[in-house]
Amino acid sequence: MKENAVLNFLRQRKTVYISGEEISKRLEVSRSAVWKEMQALRRLGYEIEAQPHLGYRLLAIPDKLFADELMAELGTKLIGKEIYSYEELDSTNDAAFRLGEKGAKEGLCVFAEYQKKGRGRLGRSWVSPKGKNIILSVLLRPVFLPHEISKLTLACAVSVIKTIRKTTGKTLGIKWPNDIYYENKKVGGILTEMSAESDRINFIVVGLGINLNAACDELPEGSTSLKEITGCGIDRVGFGRELLRRLEIDYTRLKNDSFEALEKDWETFSVTSGQRVVARLFGRKIEGQALGIDKDGALWIRQDNGFQERIMAGDVEHLWSKK
Ligand code: BTN
Repeated sequence: MKENAVLNFLRQRKTVYISGEEISKRLEVSRSAVWKEMQALRRLGYEIEAQPHLGYRLLAIPDKLFADELMAELGTKLIGKEIYSYEELDSTNDAAFRLGEKGAKEGLCVFAEYQKKGRGRLGRSWVSPKGKNIILSVLLRPVFLPHEISKLTLACAVSVIKTIRKTTGKTLGIKWPNDIYYENKKVGGILTEMSAESDRINFIVVGLGINLNAACDELPEGSTSLKEITGCGIDRVGFGRELLRRLEIDYTRLKNDSFEALEKDWETFSVTSGQRVVARLFGRKIEGQALGIDKDGALWIRQDNGFQERIMAGDVEHLWSKK
């Protein structure tokens, strides 16, 4: 029997019952093989109703980021054409990086339920409790110059905001360069890493950590989750699929030279532009009003003496209370 053949039958007919006899005939396997497969699916967490004389019906899928489940009904052409899904991993970015070095195709995704060594930007760690959130890395092979990588990260932040808006109805904010915020609390972050020569990118790994269902006390201080914000649990598989679709749309926009449109989106969602901020660069402190980003994704800050500085990398601290 082909892998997932029974599950695919159940998926296609979610609203009606399908008899064990029909499945066994269509798949040319014994009734007992069908029954065994139903048991195996139940063990994975699929809720399957069995009614005498009527047959089987899929009631619910497990809250697991299984590669097959994410790929079912995905409909993308590039992002998620190949998905690996792990219960536990050091870091999905490291796994995607290793696959990139072996020549894996662009669009490959690595999901994990838990990371033992989740990494954040600027040498920080990324903490996410098991089985609650989205932990994802996407391998890309754009024909960009290395300095253009920040545009990609900003585009991905826009994708995350749009996915959250579509799945929850809430519009969150982007704190420069790509932190996802809700009312001064962090909901998600993006870590972009690349393998490059001086003038050429071999590949890029975009790592996304988004807090969906974790409780505040399971997250680092200053963080929150979509469940805490909306009061409702988030369907992680549905969210994951929507995120991959949105990443494909925005990545395609970027490749088609539409950074201007993405820049506008970024500014719409930015909670940094207009804020009083502090940036710390190589021991220097730059404090002033954030003006917004330019066509390379760099942030401009106007200091109190009127002097304007361009920040290309790093982080800014929002002096929220002084707004
Ligand atoms: C940050 O805000 O500092 C970025 C956080 C990025 C976390 C994600 S989770 C998936 C991927 N794997 C990692 O080890 N890090 C990124």
